[in-house]
Amino acid sequence: MLTDVSTPFTAGRAPGALPLLGHAPAILRGPVEFMESLPAHGDLVEIRLGPQRAYVPCHPDLLQQILVEDRVFDKGGPLMDTARDAVGNGLATCPHHDHRRKRRLTQPAFGQAALARYSAVMSSEVAAARALWQDGQVIDAFGEFSRLAVRIVSRTLFSAEIGDDTTDELQHSFKTLSAMIGPRVFVPAAAQRLPLPVNRRYHKAIDHLHDVVDRVMTDCRDGDDAGGLLSVLSGDAASGGADLTPAEIRDEVITMLGAGTESTAAAVCWTLYLLARHPDLRQRLYAEVDTVLAGRTPGHDDLPALEFTRRVVTESLRLCPPLWLLTRVTTAPVTLAGRFLPAGTTIMYSPHAIQRQAAVYPDPRRFDPDRWLPGTATPAPRNAFTVFATGARKCIGDIYATNETIITVAGIAARWQFDCAPGTDSRPAPLSGINHPAKLLLELRPRRAQ
Ligand code: HEM
Repeated sequence: MLTDVSTPFTAGRAPGALPLLGHAPAILRGPVEFMESLPAHGDLVEIRLGPQRAYVPCHPDLLQQILVEDRVFDKGGPLMDTARDAVGNGLATCPHHDHRRKRRLTQPAFGQAALARYSAVMSSEVAAARALWQDGQVIDAFGEFSRLAVRIVSRTLFSAEIGDDTTDELQHSFKTLSAMIGPRVFVPAAAQRLPLPVNRRYHKAIDHLHDVVDRVMTDCRDGDDAGGLLSVLSGDAASGGADLTPAEIRDEVITMLGAGTESTAAAVCWTLYLLARHPDLRQRLYAEVDTVLAGRTPGHDDLPALEFTRRVVTESLRLCPPLWLLTRVTTAPVTLAGRFLPAGTTIMYSPHAIQRQAAVYPDPRRFDPDRWLPGTATPAPRNAFTVFATGARKCIGDIYATNETIITVAGIAARWQFDCAPGTDSRPAPLSGINHPAKLLLELRPRRAQ
């Protein structure tokens, strides 16, 4: 491990790189364990992906520095370039020079007043979903909550009521692409252009996603989207809108549907899974929702009173962050933790590398919502909660997603008892851009009449 007197940070190398492949097999085999293991080797750890080197910040202050300097540490690197190729140059994937304008246009859709309106939609969608379940039914949680999240994003951001078929198609397209993007990073560019079945499937998935999103946008235009995100992006004069091309608008719709659905579904899945595995905490959550909601699904005004539910969700996001691997690329030479990094160096960051450190969160693998109680003895530094990143590229949907997760979890618990059914596999889904349980089957029993 390299120590530099001019910096408080140490640099090191991850052991176990294989010839030619580097750490790629270890990452594909156990992404969470791999990321969790890195802080033992330094504050900035070099890893190898095939022949390429990448650097992973493992100290909260170092990560903060990288995330805040978004001009020097820009969106890029093999993973981001592949993602941009698949889902377009939207707010989440665009480089710095496109970013400010897109963010300025999109930000009002996530303001206070809008969020309060969205809570009502979230609540009614959760009520509709839970009303369909039967006593003893087993639901496949990730599929179920992804569908719910697609409906919520389309209704809140695009005023589009999309049918079950379109929802299923969207979900399928994102799932297919999300599973293909990670492994594609390791395929040389020349091989990506060969007419192989895997490449044909990849391009077919992109074309299909475009078709489905075009249909959503048509539904949206047919509906009442006045003042909604789509009319602002389309340059609707009444909305003081932008002047984006149809392809750019499609990129933004894909971005919101892509960034805002499986991520939140994963958060709901991990939260319900962790509660099912900790019946004492689940009981405390039932007690809170019974007092606050008496069987209803929560509205916006109920959110402050659901304070235990909020701590449960926060702790679930700490322990099982839905986005496990994100990237930046340096646009100029920099020295980080005493290491000289030329322009074009790939930085990879993972909330797992920060949020599972004993030095930051005592007993880090323990699911303990009470570590978020105000006045707790060992509060973690503010920048050690990296689930939604920070700086200019911080998740625009952080409060939206947290509200949605709380409303969904509390709304379900107010009506249903949930337990893991046989067949549940709580290992992180392999080869997925989103960290969610590989298979979460939840058995439902009514807690009270609807
Ligand atoms: C629990 C759910 C969510 C998690 C864990 C999450 C996490 C993140 C993270 C870590 C980033 C930063 C990416 C980076 O550093 O490269 C991000 C960006 C983003 N997220 Fe989320 N997100 C969630 C939900 C949502 C929702 C619900 C929406 C929209 C409806 C959304 C939209 C976006 C967008 C558009 C960006 C790009 C922001 C920018 O670059 O300006 N996310 N998200």
